[in-house]
Amino acid sequence: MITGASSGIGRESAQVFAQAGATVIITGRNVSRLEEVYNCLSGSGHTMVVTDFLSENVIVDICNSITEPIDGILHSAGISQALPYKFSSYKVMEKMMKTNFEVPYLLTQQLFKKRLINSGGSVLFLSSIGGCKMGSAGISIYGASKNALNAAMRVIATEMAPKKIRVNSLLPGLVRTNMISGDGVVTQDDYNKEELRYPLGFGVPADVANTAMFFLSDASKWITGTEFVIDGGVTVR
Ligand SMILES: NC(=O)c1ccc[n+]([C@@H]2O[C@H](COP(=O)([O-])OP(=O)(O)OC[C@H]3O[C@@H](n4cnc5c(N)ncnc54)[C@H](OP(=O)(O)O)[C@@H]3O)[C@@H](O)[C@H]2O)c1
Repeated sequence: MITGASSGIGRESAQVFAQAGATVIITGRNVSRLEEVYNCLSGSGHTMVVTDFLSENVIVDICNSITEPIDGILHSAGISQALPYKFSSYKVMEKMMKTNFEVPYLLTQQLFKKRLINSGGSVLFLSSIGGCKMGSAGISIYGASKNALNAAMRVIATEMAPKKIRVNSLLPGLVRTNMISGDGVVTQDDYNKEELRYPLGFGVPADVANTAMFFLSDASKWITGTEFVIDGGVTVR
């Protein structure tokens, strides 16, 4: 299962996983973009679930779409908003925490309780270096939501280990998707300056999708409870 598969990292991951032979369940909010991804997937037997993480029934809707236990889930759906701390508000916090933390957390819990994740399966949260490894300005709420995921991930990993289900977080640096081009607050000039700090430049969705593929496959079967940084070297400087 891949959430947020209608765009960016989630979309690329759905394509990479299907290409490798996986049967995928993809979720997204925008119907036409999700359909476009669905129609381009290699193989057959895939499922598409249109749902909004801010709706009340999101967890039930997603769980109801599953007809047999899954081998893994990539939690890619997420939002960001550049907002200086003094302009932060409860409204923004509520929306960001719900989308980035509450739904992935509660969805994983329901899948586990309903035994919808196979033994040997893998849960992968998409966290970020932003606010977790770097204190970049304007991302206090975003960073809090991603740190919350990492904290929960370590504990869930411990609790799921007896069932041989692995749980990890990926922490990407900046990746070229709608997320970094869409908010209109950070200018192209700002991004150009930021990219100079990245020894390997900004990432592209395939960089993260291929790493996610490793974490969802048996190639990583001895790895659980980790925060894996994938950032073109920006945090080693
Ligand atoms: N891009 C980066 O630089 C970067 C860096 C570090 C971490 N990340 C993390 O990577 C993940 C994917 O980001 P991306 O760059 O691929 O972003 P993106 O292209 O903007 O895609 C975001 C995805 O999340 C879905 N989504 C957002 N709000 C939703 C809601 N209320 N209900 C259901 N789905 C919702 C979107 O669905 P619709 O398109 O249908 O609205 C879309 O599929 C996020 O968790 C992000 O925080 C990204």
